[in-house]
Amino acid sequence: MNAAIRAVTRAAIFNGLEVKGICRGYRGLITNEILEFKSQNVSNIIQMGGTILKTARCKEFTTPEGRKTAYDVMKQQGIDALVVIGGDGSLTGARIFAQEYDVPCIGVPGTIDNDLYGTDSTIGYDTALNTILEAVDKIRDTATSHDRLFFVEVMGRDAGFLALNGAIAAGAEAAIIPEFDTKVDQLEELIKNGFRKSKNSSIVLVAENETRGGAMHYAKRVKNEYPQYDVRVIILGHVQRGGRPTAYDRILASRLGAAAIDALREDQRNVMTGINNDEIVYVPFSKAIKKNKPMKKELVNVLKTLSI
Ligand code: F6P
Repeated sequence: MNAAIRAVTRAAIFNGLEVKGICRGYRGLITNEILEFKSQNVSNIIQMGGTILKTARCKEFTTPEGRKTAYDVMKQQGIDALVVIGGDGSLTGARIFAQEYDVPCIGVPGTIDNDLYGTDSTIGYDTALNTILEAVDKIRDTATSHDRLFFVEVMGRDAGFLALNGAIAAGAEAAIIPEFDTKVDQLEELIKNGFRKSKNSSIVLVAENETRGGAMHYAKRVKNEYPQYDVRVIILGHVQRGGRPTAYDRILASRLGAAAIDALREDQRNVMTGINNDEIVYVPFSKAIKKNKPMKKELVNVLKTLSI
């Protein structure tokens, strides 16, 4: 996030534009928590996790009254365009706001979930993936030494990118992801395929899931249905959302942030910047948010093939 804030700020100033930093996302736009931003305001932040602007979930912005206040504050502050850095919720807000008011909005995809359509990667995803790797590599030591089955729950709300790619990278035995859970009972499939046949230990990455339940849900089931397994559960939680960003994420954020200013200068509006085959692309909000980013079956097959 900070690398993106820096890129937007510096690219704008480089091109002769003035920049204001809105604190706590849409909440700050409603409560007028807005700061003048100069180049120095974003010095020394590219290596920091979190966001210097802070962030918040803002219920008020989901109401027409809230958005009206936000618009009034914008005008009062002399703000002509918005660059919104965030995930699905933030870009949905931008899309509605841009429909109601004549405000050019450009989105920059910032979410560890990697669930925005039209971009190969979102800012934060690679860093979170590397955090997961570090944790799973350590969990592996206990799993192997004690012959245990670990369910490791990772974030991703409704998307299994962290779980599936995390599992491939960590050499885990399986991943349970929402993209496939309506079609098969993934736990039964894992057990049926004898995922522990040739091994003494196993690590399964589970994408969090409020409705079905995450790692706990599967651990309970295994304890009931397959009591021969010595099961443990780890929930990685917000550890995944912090820490120094990877080189990949810093470069991605720098490119996507700078591209947001290019988009504004080209009079584009209501698009999200993205990366596709290493080229900058502009994705209409409607596609980025509404279209489900496809999960490659090939990745599922690679994990299955390599975890024998
Ligand atoms: O959307 C990003 C995300 O990290 C999800 O993966 C996760 O479910 C959620 O945010 C956690 O949000 P909060 O910090 O509000 O609990």
